[in-house]
Amino acid sequence: MAKTSRAFVCQACGAVTARWSGKCPSCGEWNSIIEEAAPSGSPALVAIRGGKGRSASGRLGSARLAPLETLAAASIDAPRLPTGIAELDRVLGGGLVPGSAVLVGGDPGIGKSTLLLQAAAKLAETGARVVYLSGEEAPAQVRMRAVRLGLAQAPVALGTETNLANIVATLEAAGPPSLVVIDSVQTLWSEAVEAAPGTISQLRGCASALISHAKGSGSTLVLVGHVTKDGQIAGPKVIEHMVDTVLYFEGLSGHQFRVLRAVKNRFGPTDEIGVFEMRQDGLKEVENPSALFLNDRDRGAPGTAVFAGMEGTRPILVEIQALVAPSLLGTPRRAVVGWDPNRLAMLIAVLEARCGVRLGSYDVYLNVAGGLRLQEPAADLAAAAALVSSLAGQPAPEDMVYFGEVSLTGAVRAVGHMDQRLKEAAKLGFTRATVPATASASDREAKIMRLLPVSQLEELVASFGATSE
Ligand code: TYD
Ligand code: MG
Repeated sequence: MAKTSRAFVCQACGAVTARWSGKCPSCGEWNSIIEEAAPSGSPALVAIRGGKGRSASGRLGSARLAPLETLAAASIDAPRLPTGIAELDRVLGGGLVPGSAVLVGGDPGIGKSTLLLQAAAKLAETGARVVYLSGEEAPAQVRMRAVRLGLAQAPVALGTETNLANIVATLEAAGPPSLVVIDSVQTLWSEAVEAAPGTISQLRGCASALISHAKGSGSTLVLVGHVTKDGQIAGPKVIEHMVDTVLYFEGLSGHQFRVLRAVKNRFGPTDEIGVFEMRQDGLKEVENPSALFLNDRDRGAPGTAVFAGMEGTRPILVEIQALVAPSLLGTPRRAVVGWDPNRLAMLIAVLEARCGVRLGSYDVYLNVAGGLRLQEPAADLAAAAALVSSLAGQPAPEDMVYFGEVSLTGAVRAVGHMDQRLKEAAKLGFTRATVPATASASDREAKIMRLLPVSQLEELVASFGATSE
């Protein structure tokens, strides 16, 4: 087979196609496909990609038998290396696991480097050997950050190498460190991979080499990856399957708090969150997230309700605000930010037709706090609560969350992930939840929250004492 075979790789999702096209047939991203050399190191891969089936089977003669074990043999608990940052350790499932690989993703500027420098310094202060390789910032910049964080004296070994071979040589020279931080994985490159730095092939090749090196040496590897929609820099999504743990660091726009979530964890739970506050002197752990969360809310003001939602696989609590005011116009205004206007129109129609709530002569404004965009039908019940609360001038209970889908008949339908929503709400300090009557929570979750089941939207309206004029 000619070694110069080429492939076209989508830089957003990593899909390989035979020819170039403007739009990726796999993920639908535009202008994300670039030409790269087909991987030549793996005959099996080349054979499959070239559609040649088992043509590479001539090599089978030199194969050796792989050892197979029983399930019972490998039941040792993974040892842990706590970072000393409790919120981070909780998300990791008790600390870093030696020989494992962790990917920390997040938008640029969200605070990934800050978090990892703080964790690296804490760990180094306990006597562990920690290597921090920054490919994005000069040593002076990292040092400036360390001074700002009050960590300048921590015995962290700092470097700026981005070449894979040099990194591996450096790590091997002084014996395997306990922790290696690569900031960021998108700056890595290797001559062995025939593709420009920053491409999917480089990202995949370098990450997999470092991961197998970490597994072999017993070091914990932490890779930082920027999540970006810009097709120029390969997204860290394509290496999620290679690592043991994937953490996402995110923040609501305009707020100083940050949430760390595990979206994949081979050594722990994935429904724990770590909450931090970005301050002048770095990230501070937030021990009581509900306090911080409730700070931002208008306590006791009518027209707000807290929705216990899910973002993909992640639970997220968000406040829905509504303002219902008498209209001075012939056609009342309906304005909505962060939610589907059609959904609002439907909800208003259901409130009018099924619950006797007259909104025809009122302007209705609906806003999802924090700049989030809600996609879920489960937000119906919370939006309805905010609307009715505003109309009735009756605030929703402060410790209450809402979720449930409202159908055109006025029935409240069950939604998925009830346990996760309740667990997140309990973690953030809420004690009651208005939920669809048909939904069932596990006993454990039902114990931590007081559930108020509703089967018809009318019951919610009645609980606010809203008058049907
Ligand atoms: P950084 O960790 O560099 O983000 P990332 O590595 O995810 O790109 O953090 C960048 C932002 O954090 C920057 O806008 C400044 C702010 N910041 C603080 O507010 N306080 C601090 O102590 C530090 C170090 C950063
Ligand atoms: Mg950074």
